[in-house]
Amino acid sequence: MARILVTRRLPAGALDPLAGHDVTGPHPDDSPMSHAELTTAAAGVDAIVCLLTDTIDRAVLTAGEGRLRVVATVSVGYDNVDVEAARKLGIAVANTPGVLDETTADTAWLLALAAARLAQDAEKELRSGLWPGWDLNAHLGRDVHGSTLGLVGFGRIGRAVARRAAGFDVRVLHHTRHDTHEAGYVAELDTLLEMADIVSLHVPGGPATHHLVDARRIDLIGATGVLVNTSRGSVVDEVALADALHDGRLFAAGLDVYEREPAIHPRLLSAPRAVLLPHIGSASRATRLAMAQLATSAVADFLTGRVPASLVVGSAGAESPT
Ligand code: DGY
Repeated sequence: MARILVTRRLPAGALDPLAGHDVTGPHPDDSPMSHAELTTAAAGVDAIVCLLTDTIDRAVLTAGEGRLRVVATVSVGYDNVDVEAARKLGIAVANTPGVLDETTADTAWLLALAAARLAQDAEKELRSGLWPGWDLNAHLGRDVHGSTLGLVGFGRIGRAVARRAAGFDVRVLHHTRHDTHEAGYVAELDTLLEMADIVSLHVPGGPATHHLVDARRIDLIGATGVLVNTSRGSVVDEVALADALHDGRLFAAGLDVYEREPAIHPRLLSAPRAVLLPHIGSASRATRLAMAQLATSAVADFLTGRVPASLVVGSAGAESPT
């Protein structure tokens, strides 16, 4: 029987794969564990199931050295886990790819449509009792149908977003670092940003993509363009984005993720033509359950000697292809 730390409350049924093990945590009120608590707890467990809001850094992993064998984050993004440290310490890392693609793609379209059609500002006017009635010249958004969608990153979620485009008669372009040899591939990111009416980001977070979309690139999307981000907040320079919205240098933005969650830059909060969601990209009941089950199953598999399909780093230090 292994001892497993589950840092936060999981949906009903998600702990079933861990039956027979000694599961510890979360706090009774489901409040986040502090870094000190995580570090202390890591020293006494064989596995950790965490959320993307838990920082599993070198200190936490080092505390677990010798006993801790696997960390599974209930998220497809794993920038909350120091995978380099895990690899060096021989600790496996698993994530939850695949099960949230469709739900997150729905969210990207929700944001694209709401942002392009200025739904947020229009609703705000109505709710505040200021709607003067139907107006030929008010709340004039940009058409989504017939537009060009530029996908930055073309993994599972990017492809799920692309599949939905046909119904809107939207042309899809995509950019990745490596040529996909598929229709719509654009080798230069800057070119894609100039060509697209709507840009949707689907790259992982972390140092390699930090501020990939900076002030210069926001200007390439331009005053008629819409930026959608359901990936990680760190991919966009949030202050530059807020400035561009305030100055009218970007038409609109639809965001689900932020640089310093849950803090939102005040200039972004006050920016016009911005649809701001609280990181709910994968938040359907079915998908969140599937994510949690995938993470706990990965731990259960790993502890019984089976190789989980969703390994990011194997215990021998091998990178998974997922
Ligand atoms: C993830 O799994 O990384 C997503 O951001 C959750 O919505």
